[in-house]
Formats: sequence, structure tokens, C-alpha cells
Amino acid sequence: MSKNIWIIANWKSNKTIAEALDWVSKVGPGLPEKDNLKVVVCPTFSCLSEIKKAVEVGNFPLMVGSQDLSPFGVGAYTGEESAALLKELISVSILGHSERRQNFSETDEMVAKKVEQAMQNNITPLVCIQGPDTPVLEDYKLIAYEPIFAIGTGNPDTPENANTVAEKLKNKYGQDLEILYGGSVTSSNIASFIREPNINGALIGNASLDAEEFVKITKECL
Ligand code: 13P
Repeated sequence: MSKNIWIIANWKSNKTIAEALDWVSKVGPGLPEKDNLKVVVCPTFSCLSEIKKAVEVGNFPLMVGSQDLSPFGVGAYTGEESAALLKELISVSILGHSERRQNFSETDEMVAKKVEQAMQNNITPLVCIQGPDTPVLEDYKLIAYEPIFAIGTGNPDTPENANTVAEKLKNKYGQDLEILYGGSVTSSNIASFIREPNINGALIGNASLDAEEFVKITKECL
């Protein structure tokens, strides 16, 4: 069987609800359907519920994810979004993104707690690492390698180097890991990344915001 390819849109802090729905109405009908192609959109929390409804109504081959979740369960945690509540809306969660580590002092310990919450609630954690030194615990099965220099710069890592990093991670932590690459991925370079034997797809920021470009990226994965 061919390997899974994950194409995951990380919108970061972008798009109003109206803009988000416009994106879904354009992307949904254009997405290719293939068993091993897993397409996920991760909008802001404020858009999740509307997006989830639009995807269900359109019956689009699109999963919905979040960009974070609480390290705690339900209860007195003002401002937090608990996995136990989010599970109604999402099936994937991006955890430990470098922007959260940098701007919100997120630590490896916090990421581990978030992963635990996600798993207890049947949400697939996608753990972001910045390089081979970020700890990968036993539960982390879906990883995004996102070198800081490549994020939002238009200066991606080479597919060869991303593959070497992924290979090292698999040799260290297990061949069952699925490793995505993230950093300046576009429709022009996605094919060169997924062609690499140890890369299982991409986590995409800027290029995921444009509906046409995002559909183009998914079609490059066929
Ligand atoms: P860009 O695709 O904008 O470089 O962002 C990468 C990223 O941080 C995805 O999580």
C-alpha cells in the first residue's frame, strides 16, 4: 500500500468566519479523493464550528483540526480550549508549533500534556519539532519537522535534508512515525518533498490561505 500523504493547512491567526467559509466553498469541491491522501484544515478556534458544519453539509474529503488545545481537562481554566470539548469539532490538533514555543513560552513538558489530552479524546496530535533535538515521546506518531529558518521566509529546507532528518527520527524513535515537512511549502515545491521516501506530507502556512493554491497543492500529491 502506498504511504499516507497528509496535507495540513495551518491558517495561524488569519481569516474571519466569512473568509473561512468562502475558502471551504472553493476548496471543498476541488479536493481530489484518494484513500491515502489526508487533507486537514486548521483554522482559528472562532471558525471551527462553522467550518465543521460547512464540511459536513458539503460532504467534502476534508478533516478539521485545531492549532492548539489545553494541557488540562474541562474545569476552571479560563481561556483554555479543552480536548474533551474540542473533540466534537476536530480530529487533529497541531501541538508545539514553534510560534507557540516562541511567543507563548510553550515547553516540551506542556506539549507532552497536550498530547496526552488529545489522545485521551481521540484527537490525533501533530507534534511540531524544530529539529532532531526536540524530544519525541513514545505517543508521538505524527510529527512535523519545521526548521525555523524556513517558516514564512520563502526559503524552504531542501527535500534531501528534510528526508535525512525524517530518516534519523525514524531510526531513533521507530519506523511507524509519519513525518511531515513544514516551511515555505507551495504548489511549486510540494512534489519534491513528498517524493522523498521518509516524508509523509506537509504542514502549510501562507500557501494554505489561498483556496486555489491550496487545491493545486493537493493535486500535486496524486
Ligand atoms: P509557511 O508555510 O508560511 O512557511 O509556514 C509554515 C508553518 O509554520 C506551518 O505550520
